[in-house]
This record gives sequence, C-alpha cells and structure tokens, in this order.
Amino acid sequence: MEYLYILCLLAPCYATLNNKKFPDDFMFGTATSSYQVEGAWNEDGKGENIWDRLLHTNPNFTVNGDNGDITCNSYHKYKEDVALVKELNVTHYRFSLAWARILPNGHVDQINEAGVQYYKNLITELRANNIEPLVTIYHWDLPQTLQDEGGWPSSDIVDRYADYARLCFSLFGEDVKYWMTFNEPKEFCLQGYGEGTNAPGIKESGTGEYLCAHHVLKAHAKAWHIYEEEFRPTQNGQVGIVLDTNWYEPATDSAEDEIASDTKLQFVFGWYAHPIFKGDYPEVMKNNIQRRSLAQGYAVSRLPEFTPEEIEYVKGTADFLGLNTYSSMLVQPRKYTDVSAMGSEYDSEVEEWYDDSWPKGASPWLVVTPWGIQKLLRWIKNEYNNPRTIITENGYSDYDGTLDDVDRINYIQQYLSGIRDAMDEDGVNVFGYTVWTLIDNLEWVFGFTNKFGLYNVDFNSPNRTRTAKKSVGVYQNIIRTRCLVDDCIDS
Ligand code: NOJ
Repeated sequence: MEYLYILCLLAPCYATLNNKKFPDDFMFGTATSSYQVEGAWNEDGKGENIWDRLLHTNPNFTVNGDNGDITCNSYHKYKEDVALVKELNVTHYRFSLAWARILPNGHVDQINEAGVQYYKNLITELRANNIEPLVTIYHWDLPQTLQDEGGWPSSDIVDRYADYARLCFSLFGEDVKYWMTFNEPKEFCLQGYGEGTNAPGIKESGTGEYLCAHHVLKAHAKAWHIYEEEFRPTQNGQVGIVLDTNWYEPATDSAEDEIASDTKLQFVFGWYAHPIFKGDYPEVMKNNIQRRSLAQGYAVSRLPEFTPEEIEYVKGTADFLGLNTYSSMLVQPRKYTDVSAMGSEYDSEVEEWYDDSWPKGASPWLVVTPWGIQKLLRWIKNEYNNPRTIITENGYSDYDGTLDDVDRINYIQQYLSGIRDAMDEDGVNVFGYTVWTLIDNLEWVFGFTNKFGLYNVDFNSPNRTRTAKKSVGVYQNIIRTRCLVDDCIDS
C-alpha cells in the first residue's frame, strides 16, 4: 500500500487506476455557472442579482474584493468557450441560466429579449458542435427584487420559480434535453440564509436554512410537474436536481460512529434527496430538530412540515440525480451538545473534521479522498434504490492556475477510477461525469484565488486569455480511449 502511495506521488497513479473501459454511452463533460463566468453584470438589460448587490455593497465579502462584474467575460466570449469545450471532445457542457438576465425583476411580466437571445445563441453554438447542453435553471444568482420580496425563506418564491422554469422550458426546451432545477441547494440555503457566508448573507441559523430548503423542494417539484404535464410529451427531455455532499467516513468502526456517518449523510444529502426519492424528510432530521426545538422553547419544530399531499407531490420528481462531490470528512457523535446552539450542524449532533494527513487543494474544504466516492455512490444506491446518477461536478483547485497541473490530473484520474470501481463492483447507475470547471473563474467568496479550470484564464489581460493546462490533454485522452490506463480491458 505504501509502495502504491509513493507511486501516486511521483506520477499519475496508474498502479491503482481501474483498467476497465467506460461504457460507450457514458457521458464525459465539463461545467460552469452564470455568475462565475459571464460578467456583463449590467449589460443588455440584465437585472441585479443577490451576488451583484452583496459584492458591490460589501466588497470585503470576497478575497481581494473580487466579483463577477467581468470575471471571464463569457457573455462576450461564449463562442471561444464552446470552441474549448469542442476541443476537449466532451459529450456535454453544463452551464446555468442567470434568472435576472432573462427576467430582470424576477417576474415573468418583463422578459429581457437580449438575455434570452444570449442563451439561444449559446445553445445553438453547442448543438452546432454536437455538444449536449445540460442546463441548470438556478445556480445561486437570485434576482435582487425577489430577495427584496423575501427570497427563498418566503413561500411566494415557489410560484415565482415555477413561472421562471416554465418560461425556460418553453424558450429553450426544444434544444435542451437535460434540465437541472437547482444547483447545490444545501449550500445556498445553509450559507445564504443560515450562516450568512454566501449571498444574500443572512444569518438565521437553525431556521433560515430549513425554510429555504422547504421552498426549494416545493419549487423543484412544481417545475418537475410542469415539465411532466406541459412539456415532456413534445420535448421528451429529463428533469433532475443537483445535490452535493461529502462522503462522511466513520472515525472508527464503532457502531456509534457508523450511525453518526449515516446521520450526517441524512442531514446533508437526505435533507433534499429523501423528500424527492422516498417522500418527506428523513426520520432522524424530524426527530432531532423537533426535540431540540422544543428544548429551546419553540412551540413547534424549526423544521417545516410537509402535508401528506405535499409529500406525495414532491416524491418521485427526479428523472435523474446530479451529484456534486469533492471531499470526505471523518465523523463521530458530537460530544458536547449545547442545547441552545442553533444550526443544522448542531441539530445533526454529529461532529466532522478532515484528517490532517489527507492531501489538500487550495479550497479549505477540498481534500483528495478518491476512496470516498465509491463508498458514497454505494450508500446512495442502497438508500434510494439505485437512481440514475450523473456526477455533475468534481474537480481540483490550486492557487496559481499552473499549466503543469499534475495534482488536478491525479485527482481526476483517481476519482474517475473510484466511480468506475463503483459501477463495476457495486452496480451503481452512473451515466456520466462532469469536471468542474471549464475555465478558471470566480470561486465565490474565494474570488479568483481558488482555480479549478481545465483552462487557465489570465484575469490581468482585458482579453481574459484562455490557455490549456496539461489536464486538457489527459482528459481528452480519457474521453478518446474511454480508459484511465494505457491498456484497458473491455467492460
Ligand atoms: C460548487 C458549486 O456548484 C460551484 O459553483 C463551485 O464553484 C464549485 N462547487 C467549487 O466550489
């Protein structure tokens, strides 16, 4: 084992890589999101979103005061981006629609034709190059007007989102066959409305994140039903959701730590997946939050309740699961449970940490634990009856955007190997993989200091010049051969 570890440090980790071919129809792709790459924040009629507002009024929110005003300038350089996607030879490109570019005030009564045209052009360019568009309807950039009306914690948002989703299906649905309603609701609910570390920066831990999630789940379900009834018969596409989680490894093999692992996965992933794939919130969430809420003096649980009709309405509303996963953490039951502490972290009664020995990326939460992805996929298979799954994000960050990105290459190879192992040994139903991200871009509060791109972007040049990193060649080769090693055996 140590021998293998040394090999992995010295060179691409061939010794441990799976040597079976990926199936011919396995989709390889790459991804971006609107606020992180587009720029043109106020051009051609685009409305203000919550990130525009937050970072203009509070520049200290991000490292170096970086923001998405210009970022990669993809709004003007989308053809160049598509050329890079084409050069990679991927099957698909995952990107998101900026709600405020299409609907400047968030409502469907005022459509910005220039914004609509931008996405039509992008989709046309992708299709012309034989690249399947995978479209995220919401990737964290809520129109500011809707935040002023209450944002995700307000129940009004459900219908606003449903109207917007219907409009997207009708505008772009002839050419889009894979829709994702939301990207990582756990992150934007927890950080946006609980901890206050993402836009809109609201600190209401213990209540805000649960209200946000409740409305996201209803909005997701409504969009799926709209598609099912009004669009599927003619457009024949699929609607899923993108959820994120780490793998949570029990700190020891004790029964308590094993339970802590399951509990943590329920609190992070089951929070969204359970209502959609099984119906209602996980029991452990309902129990813990109810118990702690009452002990804190609340009359009812801080976790909102679904009615029996709502449980049925939300259940079964994903044609596929999009999974974003990068890291693992160790877990054990939380030793000191201060009953007054507020937040879903405390409600889970589990504590988590990174092992110091695990290799790290630039992002403080990114550790290189490829062994975790197989365990996670196996857990999802067992928990949700083996849903059709696409890895919608996975990738590696460094600080300097080096072109000689061997750490990224190792990361991608090893995680793909873990996925291939899980397909082979556990029979998990994974049909695709998507590298985060096409080009270095605005990594939210970390600004331009955490670089995930397959292509480097020179943020000092007005042209935002893109340059291929070494990982481009390696990924091209994996896609061409459908294989992680020099010589694969057929699957
Ligand atoms: C999560 C988000 O979906 C994406 O916006 C972000 O840049 C990457 N993963 C890396 O943090």
